[in-house]
Amino acid sequence: AANKAWSGRFNEPVSELVKRYTASVTFDCRMAEVDIQGSLAHATMLNRVGVLSDDDFRAIQSGMADILDDIRNGVFDWSVDLEDVHMNIERRLTEKIGDAGKRLHTGRSRNDQVATDIRLYLRGGIDATLRQIAEVQTSLVLLAEQHADTVMPGFTHLQVAQPVTFGHHMLAYVEMLGRDSERFADARRRVNRLPLGAAALAGTTYPIDRRMTAELLGFDGVCENSLDAVSDRDFAIEFTAAAALTMTHLSRLSEELIIWMSPRFGFIDIADRFCTGSSIMPQKKNPDVPELVRGKTGRVNGHLVALLTLMKGQPLAYNKDNQEDKEPLFDTLDTLSDTLRIYADMMRGITVKPEAMERAVRQGFATATDLADYLVKRGLPFRDAHEAVALAVRYAEDKKKDLADLSLIELQSFSPLIENSVFDVLTPDGSLAARDHVGGTAPAQVRAQVARWKEKLAL
Ligand code: ARG
Repeated sequence: AANKAWSGRFNEPVSELVKRYTASVTFDCRMAEVDIQGSLAHATMLNRVGVLSDDDFRAIQSGMADILDDIRNGVFDWSVDLEDVHMNIERRLTEKIGDAGKRLHTGRSRNDQVATDIRLYLRGGIDATLRQIAEVQTSLVLLAEQHADTVMPGFTHLQVAQPVTFGHHMLAYVEMLGRDSERFADARRRVNRLPLGAAALAGTTYPIDRRMTAELLGFDGVCENSLDAVSDRDFAIEFTAAAALTMTHLSRLSEELIIWMSPRFGFIDIADRFCTGSSIMPQKKNPDVPELVRGKTGRVNGHLVALLTLMKGQPLAYNKDNQEDKEPLFDTLDTLSDTLRIYADMMRGITVKPEAMERAVRQGFATATDLADYLVKRGLPFRDAHEAVALAVRYAEDKKKDLADLSLIELQSFSPLIENSVFDVLTPDGSLAARDHVGGTAPAQVRAQVARWKEKLAL
């Protein structure tokens, strides 16, 4: 077995099982590029402050360039014996360039190295996430624009409540995703600080210039306490919490797509490429993708709890527990990214069925509140109006009619205040148009909100 970088003080080698148990290279090798990026910045800084000679620095640069090539071409030979991504790369560098490779780790520990790598890696992930969220929002805004006038039942308790437009419904999710973006952007500010220089836990005796390293790596500043820098993973927890919320929002939308697509509702159809059939029931077209989004939300929620639990019992500073931060974090990044990308495409491929939506509105007494408001505007106290309309609904239900289908004479039997003008408010369109204020479902408001989002998303 290859000599471990730290094996000098040990009398016996670790067993194969322990080796496998403690190694992280199988999953942290995906940080290889940022690990090299961090090492090059560290070496640049060491060279500029006079700790690393020009020759050594140049050797490190060219050695790392070769290694990066090998990694990108998939020919780098990762070894579990070398534990993690950091020691694999450092060993390879030393094999290539000799002693200069061994000098790279001057003034550095794997503890601040790994914290730096995760932050660099996650920063890239957050930037991708922000773009991907904007793509989903774009799909939703375009749907909202097409359907600013499309009436559908709004629900409470999954029962028809009041008419809304399908566009308004889509924009609700655009708002949620907007807050999600804000959370990621905010988390990014705390991710984007440099731990390097904290070394193992207490700092280092070399005359390092941490601000220089930070600038080279595009960090906004340095972590200002070395113990904190190497040990906390709150930034990863924060990201995962934001991801869990984003997944939760998409899970709610998925639940709605599933309901809307069920033949009982028939409000929408999802393009075939997001669905699968049944091996026994020939009539089936199942909404697999939304169902999996709903399912994978549980997985991301689980990662959040895993990371919180990982942190809660750790004394300062670094403990190996922290090696367990990567799999939940990476899986969160992957799951979120796949989900967002698939959603941006899926929402472009849904077919809206306005007739089915309108039929549902007309069957659910969705304009009952409008009738009550009508009576209130004519002087009746709201509670009395509520009562009168409730009786009218019961009557209409018995007659198997919608309120709008009752005659004026029938309606007047519930209140003498009712006149012919009532039919304007009993239609879904009248109900929609009346909710004409910021945040309301009136088509004019939906169009205005679409315009604001198009500007924000630079569409
Ligand atoms: N692979 C380790 C991790 O992920 C790197 C840091 C190891 N440091 C140490 N002292 N064992 O956290």
